[in-house]
Amino acid sequence: CLGTSVRSCLQCDRTIRYMHEDFLSSVKGITVQDQMDLKGIIEHAYTTYQDTSMQLRGVIDPTTLYQVQTEYQSEFRRHWQEHRTDPIQWDMIKIVEKGRRILRKHLERFVAEGLCPNKCGLLFQSVMNCSTCQYGLFTCLSARPTRHCGVYQLEGEEGGQVVLDCFLSWHSLIVGQADYHYFWKPEARN
Ligand SMILES: *[C@@H]1O[C@H](CO)[C@@H](O)[C@H](O)[C@H]1NC(C)=O
Repeated sequence: CLGTSVRSCLQCDRTIRYMHEDFLSSVKGITVQDQMDLKGIIEHAYTTYQDTSMQLRGVIDPTTLYQVQTEYQSEFRRHWQEHRTDPIQWDMIKIVEKGRRILRKHLERFVAEGLCPNKCGLLFQSVMNCSTCQYGLFTCLSARPTRHCGVYQLEGEEGGQVVLDCFLSWHSLIVGQADYHYFWKPEARN
């Protein structure tokens, strides 16, 4: 039902596919050959988007996908609102290539900062597979792939309070069982 066998992160977003299809069906004053050329250019762009996502781990999270979608969509609209003098094929090549650059920019940031942010332990991060557009769990082995994240030392005044700050930046990504264990080990007093 997608009309194309190649998929990439950007195409997992239905809005983008519909945007291209709407454009093709609404563009005025072009020949049948032009129509076919534009269709071919878009299909080819999907192949390059696929390559780009595969070079960058082949997965994306919903936030990044949304950012790519909104940025490309607004660029696409702006592009066709400007006064165009080039052959329409040229203009199409330019804008879909811009889409690829937008995808690359966001994926690079996601891979560097958003994917597998755990510094210790083992994290299964829920991400979308760009080839299948299905969500699955990505295995994030950290540099220290043990289940233990070390010991955090806390000190408090007798009779006072200590706060157990269990929040690590990647806790919001935890899926499934997320139990916290702590124990109380009073030191022998001097
Ligand atoms: C995405 O899905 C394809 C097809 O099932 C699979 O071969 C590939 O390893 C998956 N990619 C990741 C990063 O999980």
